Amino acid sequence: MSAFTTVAWAAGRVRMIDQTLLPQKLKYIECDTVESVAEAIRSLRVRGAPAIGVTAAFGLALCAYQSNAATTGELLGELRRARATLAATRPTAVNLFWALNKMMSRAMDLLTGTPGAMQSALLADAQQICDDDIAANRRMGRFGAELLPQQVTILTHCNAGALATAGYGTALGVIRAAVESGRKVHVYVDETRPVLQGARLTAWELMQDGIPVTLVTDNMSAHLMATETVDCVIVGADRIAANGDVANKIGTYGLAVIANHHQVPLYVAAPVSTIDFAIRTGEAIPIEQRHPDEVTRICGNDIAPEGVVVFNPAFDVTPHTLVAAIITDRGVARPPYREQLQQLMTAQESAEVAVEQHSN
Ligand code: MRU
Repeated sequence: MSAFTTVAWAAGRVRMIDQTLLPQKLKYIECDTVESVAEAIRSLRVRGAPAIGVTAAFGLALCAYQSNAATTGELLGELRRARATLAATRPTAVNLFWALNKMMSRAMDLLTGTPGAMQSALLADAQQICDDDIAANRRMGRFGAELLPQQVTILTHCNAGALATAGYGTALGVIRAAVESGRKVHVYVDETRPVLQGARLTAWELMQDGIPVTLVTDNMSAHLMATETVDCVIVGADRIAANGDVANKIGTYGLAVIANHHQVPLYVAAPVSTIDFAIRTGEAIPIEQRHPDEVTRICGNDIAPEGVVVFNPAFDVTPHTLVAAIITDRGVARPPYREQLQQLMTAQESAEVAVEQHSN
């Protein structure tokens, strides 16, 4: 397990690593307003779909914690305003909306109680979302590791590690689990322009854990697969449509095409909270467009002529036909994804209901 905590509740504040400063500086910041939590998400101080969801849940818990509302109705109004602020930060990662909706529906259930009871329940629920995320990543890791040979070279893109989650990671969770199971693992990491999450964050995370890593630029993957051994590509996801189309960091689609050409399987690792069954295909996934400065500047230095027109989508959609398997915390889905993803959800839900009934 990583030696750092990505995001946590800390005595009435939301504490997180400022990821914009990595790898040069490991610095924690503490947010004491909903607006500062929203700013941290918007400016990528905290990023990665599951981490954004956990942070937003703590953001709503913070709103409740600080409230002096005399009634639960008044508190619900404050929570609705906070929800709107947090929901407006980033559009693609569905975990943000999943966590906000979970917290809001809990608040609605508690309307007949006291504001104090609602405050405590929301804080406990946010903490639970955080703890569950780590547990889900560990389960996903174990499922994913089973797909890998004893000696394996993996290419990954962006950062789907402990930094992108509450801990352990999704794609990097599979890699960590593979190492823990005794497999001999070597990881190639794409630098991931424009924000360099691969070079700055993934390379750092893997080196912290002593996992062998080689950094490559994004345009090297075809040559890499043609000339070196790459057994599989493992990436995370920001939103998965019901048919298995996957929105992930820009560049994933290109990588998937290249992997397909070289018959290298591309695995997607993501918790079920990343699957959006309300969206039938990837075409309907909203793609975040980010500021041109991310493309025209590197580490504060201009690299392009002033005023150049920029296209800067933060994510792309990989068609499900290019995805060999989707590794979730409930098991591994293979094509046809529409049926298999649904089966994973239903099988687990009925198991959960059975357990609940048993314990009642
Ligand atoms: O823009 P970011 O850094 O928030 O992008 C999200 C990601 O980290 C990736 O797309 C990742 O591969 C999926 S989230 C575990």
